[in-house]
Amino acid sequence: MLSIIKTMSLQGLDGYLIDVQVDVTGGIPNWDIVGLPDTSIREAKERVRAAIKNSGFELQSRKILVNLAPASTKKEGSLFDLPIAIGILCSIEKIKKENLEKTVFIGELSLDGRINSVRGILPICIECKKIGVKRLIIPSVNSLEASIVNGIEIIGVNTLKQVVNFLNNEEKILPSKTDWTDVIKNINKLSLDFSDVRGQEEAKRAIEIAAAGGHNILLIGSPGSGKTMLAKRISTILPDLSFEEALEVTKIHSIAGTLPKNLPIITNRPFRAPHHTISPISLVGGGRIPKPGEVSLAHYGVLFLDELLEFNRNTLEVLRGPLEDGIVNVSRANASLTYPCNFMFVASMNPCPCGYYGAKDKECTCTPQAITKYMGKISGPLLDRIDIQIEISQVKYEKLDNMQKNETSQIIKERVNKARKIQIKRYKNEKIYSNSELTPKLIEKYCKLNNASKEILKNAFERLGLSARAYGRILKVARTIADLQDCINIEKRHIAEAIQYRSLDKKYWKN
Ligand SMILES: Nc1ncnc2c1ncn2[C@@H]1O[C@H](COP(=O)(O)OP(=O)(O)OP(=O)(O)O)[C@@H](O)[C@H]1O
Ligand SMILES: [Mg+2]
Ligand SMILES: [Zn+2]
Repeated sequence: MLSIIKTMSLQGLDGYLIDVQVDVTGGIPNWDIVGLPDTSIREAKERVRAAIKNSGFELQSRKILVNLAPASTKKEGSLFDLPIAIGILCSIEKIKKENLEKTVFIGELSLDGRINSVRGILPICIECKKIGVKRLIIPSVNSLEASIVNGIEIIGVNTLKQVVNFLNNEEKILPSKTDWTDVIKNINKLSLDFSDVRGQEEAKRAIEIAAAGGHNILLIGSPGSGKTMLAKRISTILPDLSFEEALEVTKIHSIAGTLPKNLPIITNRPFRAPHHTISPISLVGGGRIPKPGEVSLAHYGVLFLDELLEFNRNTLEVLRGPLEDGIVNVSRANASLTYPCNFMFVASMNPCPCGYYGAKDKECTCTPQAITKYMGKISGPLLDRIDIQIEISQVKYEKLDNMQKNETSQIIKERVNKARKIQIKRYKNEKIYSNSELTPKLIEKYCKLNNASKEILKNAFERLGLSARAYGRILKVARTIADLQDCINIEKRHIAEAIQYRSLDKKYWKN
């Protein structure tokens, strides 16, 4: 007898509906799954057979044919186990059909009939709601994540037997609901704060500007100067995520399987700091069963590469595209997926091989050639994407000892928020949101200078030997500094400060 069970699969961030058609007949015992299955679906056969048997059902020698339709799309993952098992049990009349309507089944089975968690429930759930699915039967571990989508019944289940009992009206399972007050309690409870950092006013100022304009930033300093400490706090001063942004971020983490437990939706901007041994694929995404990489996990947040020069050159090379485009294309055999990756790039490094070039308290032992070679390891195109560079020097003892209250992240964030709002309003017709996204053409339009400012810039170019590339970056950063002070025009002092964030060009890169 034929039964048709609905399930859903993922293509990138989007879910699409799949019919699992199961026909069980007499005849020579055989078990076939068709419709472009990958190896994990073939493996499903063994899991489904064992799970059915161990749930107490008899699967005598039958001929079973499973077709996943539409056949033209590639299907991956193990979330078809449950719908296939349900289809078979339906076909051998162990389940009443009337309860299957407008219901979608998702879940991986263990050999003993337990239902394991799957990746990507949130995007699946959003799509199900869109197309009018009434009920979603999913692993109970995923039900919290799914239940942030309103207007669809989420039934979390633990075992195959439980699903059968539920469909036959022999067991009641209440739909999962997310209690928003519980969610809110977890929101924005970050343990890190800028007030932990003593002194370092200049570095904090540069970081505030970077956050306000969405500028990428490079921190250069000797060991122990506090680079890592500062970088880790950047996401605490970025503007709060909107609900739409939070959903988009959560979707990515849902697919990657990196959602924190007990948290159905990500409400804080991500901070990702992959280790320097990371592979290019883990950084940008891809793989046999494609997954978003660190750049996408950092979407709407911060990607921090600590000790930049420790990263493999090839690894840094693959970053260029995502940094430029804000999306990653993962090409597959017969499909191409896109993941968004709009992140703020933050990197840290030592100023020389020994680490103490320019340090006040310790002598650098490197030759000038060694320093040039070391700094030259960062490729020009990567350097090109960084608007702000700052040197961090060791904080003085008096500052460390000083117990006066520092500004909290919340206070800095309020200023950042104000500056961001100005940018969003100014660029509402330009399809960009922040100063960092200004193209050369838009720089001309929005970063006009008066004569006095032009003079300062001209002098700086001669004195510092700046390049044409530096020109645009100085103007963008000056625009942000002006926005932080709510100034309509870019003034002399804004340009002068922005120039400081390029002064390392001459010292290290001479471009
Ligand atoms: N300004 C500061 N205020 C308070 N503590 C600080 C400050 N700077 C450094 N520290 C302390 O020193 C430790 C080392 O700082 P951090 O690891 O950030 O340095 P780093 O520049 O990243 O060094 P490395 O190059 O060795 O990675 C911090 O964990 C913190 O405890
Ligand atoms: Mg460090
Ligand atoms: Zn040195």
